[in-house]
Amino acid sequence: MTNVNRYHPLLVILHWLLAVLILFQLITGDNFLAEMSNNSPGKISALKTHLQVGIVILFLMLTRLILRSKTDTPDAIDTGNSFINRAGKYSHILLYILIFGILFSGIGTSMIAGLPDIVFFGSGEALPETFDGIPPLVFHAVATKILFFMVILHFLATIYHQFVRKDGLLSRMWFGKK
Ligand code: HEM
Repeated sequence: MTNVNRYHPLLVILHWLLAVLILFQLITGDNFLAEMSNNSPGKISALKTHLQVGIVILFLMLTRLILRSKTDTPDAIDTGNSFINRAGKYSHILLYILIFGILFSGIGTSMIAGLPDIVFFGSGEALPETFDGIPPLVFHAVATKILFFMVILHFLATIYHQFVRKDGLLSRMWFGKK
């Protein structure tokens, strides 16, 4: 039992900031970045934005984990159904695993493709003809599809708590007293 009924304000800020940044990466990565050919003129700057936002997400995720371990967090809500309780717990763990897997596979892809020199240090080299076949990118692409599905589930679960169970779950991830 903890004596708080909402998350620490900094965790609330991090949650919503990360939600926006991750959605941005999911939508632009799939519909814009991956669709652009590697010889197209805007590709290096599109990659630069994707990599920079990705690194900010990594930094914020680590900050969030540290802060979470050092602050009191509210107890898990008991829905009265052990299957839904367990689904809630494991889906959050899966979200963390997917996000870190996506971050590290993105970094792995960039290293293999030599992107840091080209994108950040202006080496002037051309991008490789294609990124196809780079093993961590296969994981990156599959895991981002699963993450998108999980984000939709996460959203639907929130709607269920807020409007069906009316247990005030959303207010735990917002500002207020205690
Ligand atoms: C949570 C963070 C991230 C999300 C949600 C994300 C999302 C995506 C998505 C949806 C794609 C397109 C995949 C496809 O269908 O082919 C993609 C491609 C890619 N991502 Fe990420 N990404 C993230 C972080 C990173 C990071 C940290 C890096 C590297 C530092 C990175 C490097 C790449 C690269 C090199 C590609 C290939 C682009 C291309 O095919 O032209 N990503 N990412």
